[in-house]
Amino acid sequence: MYRKAPFSYVPTLCICTGFRIGAAAEAYHRAMRVGIGILGFGTVGGALLTKLINEHASISTKTGLEIAVVKVAVRDTAKARSVSLSPGVLTNDPWEVVNDPGVQLVVEIMGGEDPAGDLVAEALRLGKPVVTANKALIAARGKELIAIAEESGVPLLFEAAVAGGIPIIRPLSETLAGEQIDRVLGIVNGTTNYILTQMTENGAEYKAALAEAQELGYAEADPTADVSGADAAAKAAILASLAFGTWVGFERVYTEGIDGIDATDVRIAAELGYVIKLLAVAENTAEGISVRVHPTFVPGDHPLAVIRGATNAVFVEGPSFGELLFAGPGAGGAPTGTAVLGDVVDAARELLAGAEVAPPIRFQPGRLFDFTSVKTTWYLRLEVADRPGVLAQVAGVFGDNDVSIKSVWQEGEDDGATLLLVTHAHEEGRHRASLDELRALDVVRNVGAVIRVEGTGPTPNL
Ligand code: NAP
Ligand code: HSE
Repeated sequence: MYRKAPFSYVPTLCICTGFRIGAAAEAYHRAMRVGIGILGFGTVGGALLTKLINEHASISTKTGLEIAVVKVAVRDTAKARSVSLSPGVLTNDPWEVVNDPGVQLVVEIMGGEDPAGDLVAEALRLGKPVVTANKALIAARGKELIAIAEESGVPLLFEAAVAGGIPIIRPLSETLAGEQIDRVLGIVNGTTNYILTQMTENGAEYKAALAEAQELGYAEADPTADVSGADAAAKAAILASLAFGTWVGFERVYTEGIDGIDATDVRIAAELGYVIKLLAVAENTAEGISVRVHPTFVPGDHPLAVIRGATNAVFVEGPSFGELLFAGPGAGGAPTGTAVLGDVVDAARELLAGAEVAPPIRFQPGRLFDFTSVKTTWYLRLEVADRPGVLAQVAGVFGDNDVSIKSVWQEGEDDGATLLLVTHAHEEGRHRASLDELRALDVVRNVGAVIRVEGTGPTPNL
């Protein structure tokens, strides 16, 4: 079924000052009007509306589009807002936005799966293009929503859902659509990168750094999604699906957050010449596709080691093009608003062209394989009893699981004794079996940290 949006084209004359569009048309050009409805007026919504209102003339001049904000939904219409809207535009009923006949295109920036998912689905069924920044929604219901968009012949665009202001969705789904892609690796969560940078460079406390990230508008409404790795996992699932052409469900992403990282590990990483980063790694090998998110020791000379604050960076690797690096602001209202606006312009042009739009990537079944057979190198911090034979018991556990140890050293003594170990690369499964057995040893008081290492792993200079 293909239903076009119930809209009317209203060509308007737009006065352009100081902008030349050819010799004869210096002062005027025709702009095509598109009525948009926005679900959400928070960090991203505020930035988008500021742009649409303050830069209205230049957007119109540059794109030929007259973007008219028809309806905006919020939870609380009495809350003070950064931009004032015409009377009647603000509503606390999001369905009013979707169903308004003057709304030709819907922007979903309210977050969460419910009711956002049903609102997006209904807008698409009504033949209205949708732009969303909601990675949680796309990772959970993307396959279904893309199918509804295809049936209605309208675009569903989500450039802002991954890595904020960095164009990465469009390169994967358009520029590289015909390419074999083997690996996508990067930092895709601004909040956690901000926290880790503050802890590494300024000795900040975890909680204080998180509060700053919230204040700066980087964190999700519930920041648990950031620090638990769930936000990065949703983004990794989307990147993997587009890169490999196989839909990867969010639940298939192995996920660990940074909530267990403490100042000791940040210090030890620095002493060994590493920095801790929350990495998303999606690989497509002969065994199949694996996707994971976890804190990682990254060598100081690796390009990702210098990605600081809320900046994100994503490597895309394939046999024809080698290695591409996409980097830039990964969170925050303004850069995310830029990505949303780009999608609005794109979707509005498709709408005005009247073309039936098909999704750029067609998903095929693929083999997803369990992370337990991926080979990784581990750093471990074990709080242990300080007495003869402890090291032999710990080493015995690794030996029994066929995991070889690259380096081991001790910090502190007596009650403060800590064993620090780096293993060689082995299958996750073997590492995990070792970990279970270590936890059962009475000489191991606590497994303080387990952090995977990018590359072969450090050799401490003892
Ligand atoms: P936010 O600041 O929490 O804003 C959410 C907005 O949605 C608020 O205006 C809220 O209304 C409104 N809202 C929420 N539930 C609603 C409901 N049931 N009915 C009507 N309105 C509702 O969130 P944000 O940071 O702008 O993020 C929005 C989306 O963009 C999320 O999906 C997020 O993951 C994504 N995103 C955010 C960033 C970023 O850096 N912040 C970057 C990329 C993507 P009130 O104002 O009345 O509370
Ligand atoms: N909370 C997200 C982050 C916003 O910190 O990366 C951008 O998606």
